[in-house]
Order: sequence, then structure tokens, then C-alpha cells
Amino acid sequence: MKEMGNRLEGKVAIVTGGGSGIGEAICKKFASEGARVIVAGFPEDPVEEVLKEIQKNGGTAIHFTGDLSTEANAKRCVDLAVSQYGKLDILINNAGVFPEVNLLQDYSEEAFEYMLKNNIKTAFVMSKAALPELHKTKGNIVSAGSEAGVIGIAQNTPYGGTKGFIHAFMRGLAVEQAQFGVRCNIVGPGPIDTAWTHESTGPMDSKMVKTMKQATPMGRRGTPEEVANVYLFLASDEASYVTGATYMVDGGITLAKGPVGEEADSSMKSQPAGQLDLEHSKEGHTSIRK
Ligand SMILES: NC(=O)c1ccc[n+]([C@@H]2O[C@H](COP(=O)([O-])OP(=O)(O)OC[C@H]3O[C@@H](n4cnc5c(N)ncnc54)[C@H](O)[C@@H]3O)[C@@H](O)[C@H]2O)c1
Repeated sequence: MKEMGNRLEGKVAIVTGGGSGIGEAICKKFASEGARVIVAGFPEDPVEEVLKEIQKNGGTAIHFTGDLSTEANAKRCVDLAVSQYGKLDILINNAGVFPEVNLLQDYSEEAFEYMLKNNIKTAFVMSKAALPELHKTKGNIVSAGSEAGVIGIAQNTPYGGTKGFIHAFMRGLAVEQAQFGVRCNIVGPGPIDTAWTHESTGPMDSKMVKTMKQATPMGRRGTPEEVANVYLFLASDEASYVTGATYMVDGGITLAKGPVGEEADSSMKSQPAGQLDLEHSKEGHTSIRK
């Protein structure tokens, strides 16, 4: 058994998109800090593998497979948490897709609608289904925004738009849900080392990948674990006075101008090893599944 922490001891958490990329790291980080985790994703995602890896390391988890953009599946997922573990304390809206990179005049309607469903509707139906349970536990929601949702992103303008929805949605929710004791926050990743930011596994071309690194003051991609560390803080009781906040985990890219990444200190340029064994960071969702 791996050494475990206790920052989420006694908590029950649903992580959507928990089978790959940042979601895998969130599931493993939360389980290593004592949470009981529902690893939720599409049937095609390696959710069952993540579950087994958590259990092998002494953590507690179950998995849920289904399209989390439907109200029926969102309710089934929340019901599973309650029937299995008796309650729900934390909802992490991490599910998302990144199917196309294109200038708007060439951007397909199909990819646009796919993102509306998987990036926006998932957060709406999951939050709606989870709230009655979060009211009982005085729980919290953390959702995946993005640098692209704050400043927009060239050649993927509709993606930035879907993430802009998440930022506004979560801020409104934070104000509205305080009367029920529920905190609502946003993590805004910059370029993270998942399938999405590699030419070989996602829609970005080599020029975009190069520009992305140059534009990041820290000169590199973040690791999924570096993002999961911030989700951990926001979801934990340590963040008891934090609601409606956006925590960027972006190596500084949202603020930067020009190719500043080339000047990053070498200490910033190398990725930290981290503590988690991540097996599925590059198995993400980067094309339209029929
Ligand atoms: N990777 C980055 O550089 C980056 C940057 C900014 C924001 N983000 C955000 O972080 C989140 C995770 O990204 P990632 O890079 O880890 O990608 P990923 O593809 O590895 O993980 C996303 C997961 O969500 C699942 N998913 C999507 N729609 C779903 C649905 N309807 N039902 C069930 N599962 C669904 C996918 O199948 C996939 O397993 C996304 O919301 C993304 O927008 C990522």
C-alpha cells in the first residue's frame, strides 16, 4: 500500500472524465488523500483501469460509465455515489472534449455541437443532479475552465467559448448556492501534458505546439498532477473561505505576451516527477466518437 494523506478523509467525490488525462490524476490524488471516489467517464475511457490502480494502492473507488451529458445518466451517477457511500461531498466537472482545431470559416458544425454537449451540458446536468446531495453535506463543486475560456483561443474559438460558459456558470452558481452552504470554484488549466497538446495524439499541429510552449513563461506544459494538486486544495476544507474563484494552473500563459517561454529558468522548464503513477494521461478524447 502507498503512503496515504488525509486531506479528504471521509469525503465522497465524483470526478467526471476520470479515466484519462487530468481526470485520472484528480481521481488518484483524491483517493490518496482519503476520499472515496466515483471515477466517471464514457464506456470507451479507461475508467475501470483507473479504479483498479486506485484499489491496488489502497484507495477506495468505484466506477460509473455512461454519457454524462444526459440528465438520466447524471442522476444515475449521483445515485450510485449515495447508494454506495451514503452521500456526496464533492463534484469535479472535469469532462470535456477537444475534437478539432480550425479557423472559424472551416470549423465543422458537428465539432461545435459535440463540444456544446460534452463541455457544457455535462457541467449543467451533473451540477443540477448533485446539488440536492451537496446541500445535505455542505459540499462543493470544482469545474474545469481554461485559459481559453478567459482570453479566447485562435483556431479553436468555439472551444474557448464553451470554457467561457463554465467560468460564468460557476461564478453565478457560487453566489446562488452559498445560501445552501455549497462552494463553487474553477480550475483554469493552461497547456497540460495530456493527449490534447501533442501532435501525435490530438488535433494540434507542430506549429501550434511550438507556439504554445514559447508563449508559456514557464516554457513547458504542466503535468496532470500539478493541476490535480489545485483541485485538491479547492475541494478540501482548507479552501473553506474560497468560492467563486478561478485558480489558473497555466505556467503564466494567460498573462504573457510574446515568446517568453524561451527565457524560462531551467528550474521551471523541467516537469516535477510528482507522486502519482499515471498510466492514462495520453489516452484522452480528441476526436468525435460516433
Ligand atoms: N489538456 C489541456 O491542456 C487543458 C487545458 C485547459 C483545460 N483543460 C480541461 O481539462 C479537462 C480535462 O482535459 P484532459 O486534457 O485531461 O482531456 P482528456 O480527454 O484526457 O479527459 C477528458 C475526459 O472526459 C471524458 N468525457 C468527455 N465528455 C464526456 C461525457 N459526456 N461523458 C463522460 N465522459 C466524458 C472524455 O472521454 C475523457 O476521458 C477538460 O475539461 C479540458 O477542457 C485541459
